[in-house]
Amino acid sequence: MTDPDPAGRTDLPDGRPAAAAGLQVLPIFGLPDFRPGDDLAGAIAAAAPWIVDGDVLVVTSKAVSKVEGRLVRSPTEPEARENFRRDLVDSETVRLVAQIGRTKIVENRLGIVAAAAGIDASNVRLDEIALLPEDPDASAAAIVAAFAANGLKVGVVITDTQGRAWRNGVIDVAIGAAGVRVLEDHRGGVDAFGNELVVTQVGLGDEIAAAGDLVKGKLAGVPVAVVRGLGATGTGSVTARSLIRPYEEDLFRLGTDLAIQQGRREAVLLRRTVRSFSGEPVDEDVLRRCIGTALTAPAPHHTRPVRFVLVRKHRQALLQSMLAEWEADLAADGWPDDRIARRTSRGQILHHATEIVVPFVTGDGRHDYPDHRRREAERTMFTVAGGAAVQALLVALAAEGLGSAWISSTIFAPVVVRSVLGLPDDWEPLGTIGIGHPAGPLQPRPAAGTGDAFLIR
Ligand SMILES: Cc1cc2nc3c(=O)[nH]c(=O)nc-3n(C[C@H](O)[C@H](O)[C@H](O)COP(=O)(O)O)c2cc1C
Repeated sequence: MTDPDPAGRTDLPDGRPAAAAGLQVLPIFGLPDFRPGDDLAGAIAAAAPWIVDGDVLVVTSKAVSKVEGRLVRSPTEPEARENFRRDLVDSETVRLVAQIGRTKIVENRLGIVAAAAGIDASNVRLDEIALLPEDPDASAAAIVAAFAANGLKVGVVITDTQGRAWRNGVIDVAIGAAGVRVLEDHRGGVDAFGNELVVTQVGLGDEIAAAGDLVKGKLAGVPVAVVRGLGATGTGSVTARSLIRPYEEDLFRLGTDLAIQQGRREAVLLRRTVRSFSGEPVDEDVLRRCIGTALTAPAPHHTRPVRFVLVRKHRQALLQSMLAEWEADLAADGWPDDRIARRTSRGQILHHATEIVVPFVTGDGRHDYPDHRRREAERTMFTVAGGAAVQALLVALAAEGLGSAWISSTIFAPVVVRSVLGLPDDWEPLGTIGIGHPAGPLQPRPAAGTGDAFLIR
């Protein structure tokens, strides 16, 4: 058989050689069930003497795993075999990406993301399980080199079968490659209408892998196919590793359920006191949503005793009046003027925060008691409920990417605060919350060690 277009003209619209118009996908029949140490390239060459320059050999990774001895002895009893397989998956796992029931989608050492780390117990003996090749790009390069030694320039794609996000049905993808372009970069090019191609990179390696599977099939015992006429052998992005999207650029680096779990676990840890804000306006709808979340905090007697006041118009007046009271307190403590000035000049957070919110706990629903002890206990109960709501607000803000600082000030000047804001006498301020977009990114921190803060009696 000859190359359908030895001239290799390059007149297809996407720039591939004209030979692609006569693309052929050919199965290689007569290959054995490979065993460790077998000469895979030799067997392919013997079974397909019709292979010519420019052909791409599409090789099932299972065949490569077998010749490379990536077979592990497994128990044959079905349940023991399944447990053994699961342990193997865990040992090959670098990162859990998603989990559906007991099925794990994981990243392996090579950065390949696949169900069960690409380990499956099909097309192997009942007492064996095949792992993926150690380095599929190197395996592909070895086959390319073996053919080159016999004067043939071929490309090789090593395939594995994968499911895909969003799409039903598995397809074959390239997990190893050599001597063939696996990623065609059309960025910067112009289409037939004159539109500049901004993001188009074609995953040619995966397309070749899938094309090969059309003639290999899963049960046919045809582990190798030849894709002819594509004109894709050569240099450029020739390793399957170049098909792996870097973790930071991957919008889907974590399955939905795991992402939700992680988000929940980190929500509280994301909150920390932010004292420096970018000044970008805070979306009032977001603020309202966070306050709605905060108002779900627990409160005694099925009451809703907490109020949040967004202070805008009276902000300067409030801060000035509280400052005056603070200065008067310090003067009454006997502090000299210069020391008072130095102390009060610190802590300008509430001046610089993009928004400020004053949380209050009201007397609504509070029980009355004839004795001081129970009255005070009731008061404490409502105050701690206010604290819970404030913390809930800070966590909700952090989850929306907003920074916050809970500042004590209003607690020390309740009369002034009520007077400036025109609020009832039984509203107790619980500090002030400075809110804004943080100047730097919010990062979750590790949970604190429990140490002597956690006792079991
Ligand atoms: C009721 C209360 C009052 C606070 N008052 C102030 C304050 O007046 N000024 C301030 O800078 N931070 C204030 N903080 C914040 C603490 O200093 C802060 O929580 C602490 O430094 C730990 O930092 P973190 O919140 O990032 O974990 C207050 C916190 C609480 C709970």
